[in-house]
Amino acid sequence: MIPLRPETIHTDRLALLPLQVEHAGEMATVLSDPGLHTFIGGTPDTAQDLRAHYERLTAGSPRPGESWCNWVIQLRDAACLTGYVQATVTADDHGAAAEIAWVVGTPWQRRGIATEATQGLIAWLRKHSVHTVIAHIHPNHQASAAVATAAGLTPTGQWHDGETRWQLATN
Ligand SMILES: CC(C)(COP(=O)(O)OP(=O)(O)OC[C@H]1O[C@@H](n2cnc3c(N)ncnc32)[C@H](O)[C@@H]1OP(=O)(O)O)[C@@H](O)C(=O)NCCC(=O)NCCS
Repeated sequence: MIPLRPETIHTDRLALLPLQVEHAGEMATVLSDPGLHTFIGGTPDTAQDLRAHYERLTAGSPRPGESWCNWVIQLRDAACLTGYVQATVTADDHGAAAEIAWVVGTPWQRRGIATEATQGLIAWLRKHSVHTVIAHIHPNHQASAAVATAAGLTPTGQWHDGETRWQLATN
């Protein structure tokens, strides 16, 4: 199953499209609000920086047994991009484990987009032998905790870089 390659995932309102370098221009606008970085650190990328970043991501992980799977989130009716989801999938003796993350641009927040995209992502991972899904979430990040809860993850007692590890066993 490794390397795992992202495929288009359809949910009720969304298409999760495998990331392409060409998405960088539109995504630079979607991700332009500095407020998106409150809990995840950093600052918004320019279109040029994002293009270079997407080139690295789409080239894939240099580590054997690890897959970088990235999608942009398209709101189908509006035919526009609204954010992204990602999964770093690592093979092990039982199949694979995935660390996931989600970001939705400020104008599209609070419409259930992150929840719907994350649920679609986890359903796809489940179909590809991923037995454990994890996410690291800042303890004050209510929106991300709500997304994780709606996707079936629960907080563990483990911490990493000031964030709580959330986990879901998918089988
Ligand atoms: C976290 C994030 C992806 C949520 O996106 P979203 O599309 O607005 O999320 P949803 O609409 O699916 O909402 C999920 C839940 O969060 C709640 N929520 C959304 N924004 C919120 C906010 N600013 N404060 C408190 N709760 C919030 C919603 O009410 C909903 O809760 P409910 O299911 O109990 O009704 C978005 O805020 C974001 O991109 N933040 C910055 C990037 C980031 O920190 N990503 C996390 C990395 S793991």
